[in-house]
Amino acid sequence: MKLKFNLIVGLALSFGAVKAQKVNVKKAFASAAKQTDVLIKNVDSARAIKPTLVSPRTVENGQFKMVVSRDWTSGFFPAELWYFYAFTKDKRWLDLAKKYTEDIKKEQFNKGTHDLGFMIYCPFGNGYKVTKDPEYKSVIIQAAKSLSTRFNAKAGVIKSWDHNGDKWKYPVIIDNMMNLELLFEATKFTGDSSFYKIAVSHADVTLKNHYRPDFSSWHVIDYDTVSGNVRNKLTAQGYSNESAWARGQAWGLYGYTLCYRYTKNNAYLAQADHIANYILSSKITPADGIPYWDYNDPQIPNVSRDASAAAITASALYELAKYSKESKKYKAAADKILASLSSKYVSKPGANYGFILEHSTGHRPAKSEIDVPINYADYYYLEALLRSKGIKI
Ligand code: GLY
Repeated sequence: MKLKFNLIVGLALSFGAVKAQKVNVKKAFASAAKQTDVLIKNVDSARAIKPTLVSPRTVENGQFKMVVSRDWTSGFFPAELWYFYAFTKDKRWLDLAKKYTEDIKKEQFNKGTHDLGFMIYCPFGNGYKVTKDPEYKSVIIQAAKSLSTRFNAKAGVIKSWDHNGDKWKYPVIIDNMMNLELLFEATKFTGDSSFYKIAVSHADVTLKNHYRPDFSSWHVIDYDTVSGNVRNKLTAQGYSNESAWARGQAWGLYGYTLCYRYTKNNAYLAQADHIANYILSSKITPADGIPYWDYNDPQIPNVSRDASAAAITASALYELAKYSKESKKYKAAADKILASLSSKYVSKPGANYGFILEHSTGHRPAKSEIDVPINYADYYYLEALLRSKGIKI
């Protein structure tokens, strides 16, 4: 799975300025569906041995890795199945999506994580859009209630992690912006504005504290919940405290774009534009548009890329293109990323246990999931493909 590309580092032109190409979405979806059939077979075999392992996460050292429902990535696999149904309208995908979504349901009551947006909103939100099943709606509302218990009014943000209390007191990671969609939807469903207010507070405080003057973001901000002040600015998954971890930049871009969708607050649109500009004007990212795992790793170009960051970015750019003055530029950049992912980053048919993309980086500092296939890369890739065609689910 080693990358063998002619890297063009330090280009005079950033990749965002390079001519757009168009992906054949029908073909890309058909290949992805074939891969996912292989994945489902592997999932079912693994579940037959250990039924508590519900979703596929990655392949590491040749080993297929499944996770329990409380893993932060458990919702991506069922959520992908809803995307296959949205694209094909084939009832087989509908039945599969319903079946695997069911396994994540109990996490609606999980108050020990901030990741409920990923775990619950991705599968149940997609499922609700398709089926209008009132049970899916109630799962989303309960998950929003669980997530809201992690909000601290003094700091104005939702706590991300309960672990590593020796490193931080009240850590908030940029990834947490992704969970706000769950809260905005819960207000739409219930009319209870408390979810909306928590989401807006989190987005405002994050905008103030998480971004540097160049609009790259820190990964972790640690808050003092007595004074509400910032205690520390750190990293957990990036190269260093002062570096720009690639996936974090993508989460922030997607997060402020979705905040604009729900609020129409121009400050969020401006923030998304600034983040997009940071990503697209990088002279470090190679011409294919797939970033290295961290923009500031001094070992570049001899380090892993992160296809997941690219897939998240492409999906976000298609949405941002609907709101921003830079619409043409964003669509062209997203097309370019999709063209690269669809040609050079897809697994060979049947390989990688059925995961669609390869070359993502999960947690490099922990020496974990480096240059691997990973479920969230596949999920946002499918979402970007749908968005590239304007297909709404
Ligand atoms: N939210 C964890 C990650 O992006 O790896």
